[in-house]
Amino acid sequence: MKNIVILISGSGSNMAAIIRAAQREHWLERLGARVAAVISNRPDAPGMAQAQGVAREVVDHRDFATREEFDAALQHAVDSYSPSLVLLAGFMRILTPNFVRHYEGRLINIHPSLLPAFTGLNTHQRALDTGCKVAGATVHRVTPELDHGEILAQAVVPIVVGDTAATLAARVLTQEHLIYPQVIAQLLQTATL
Ligand code: GRF
Repeated sequence: MKNIVILISGSGSNMAAIIRAAQREHWLERLGARVAAVISNRPDAPGMAQAQGVAREVVDHRDFATREEFDAALQHAVDSYSPSLVLLAGFMRILTPNFVRHYEGRLINIHPSLLPAFTGLNTHQRALDTGCKVAGATVHRVTPELDHGEILAQAVVPIVVGDTAATLAARVLTQEHLIYPQVIAQLLQTATL
């Protein structure tokens, strides 16, 4: 059985979409995989309540003096599930190069823009401010450079008159919930994980 560990910091809707899809359609099971655990760096992450039927852990970044110490503790927690895939799903901590290298080839992120445009934060407002006509989301491999790494899938949505960062984020999020499970399925089918 291939284990998947999902890291979150907030509402966890991508994580919930992956778990829901797995439970409803048994697609992970058919691919010989399961979501083994959800780990949050915030004890109050609302998404934790939605992580039904899987192990839940908190590694609170505020308990550690340095980024390196936090990442070492996080790595210890993640490794206890021997994961084939580690998914960042709204995980709002920058990870050290050592952590990223440790999971090379099995660390994946979803970012709410059409990379390489708008790396970092506030992607939707920046897309609106730039006058973009479309926006979207990208699933990509994680490398030490923030929001870089091989693009695995993208979804495009229109920007419409009257959009705010919130309305655009909601439109993009519906697509995120579709493409992240698709990429996981592809990776489990094709990659030697
Ligand atoms: C998503 O927009 C994701 O692309 C970004 O953070 C947001 C997380 O949303 N990395 P959720 O926690 O999955 O609801």
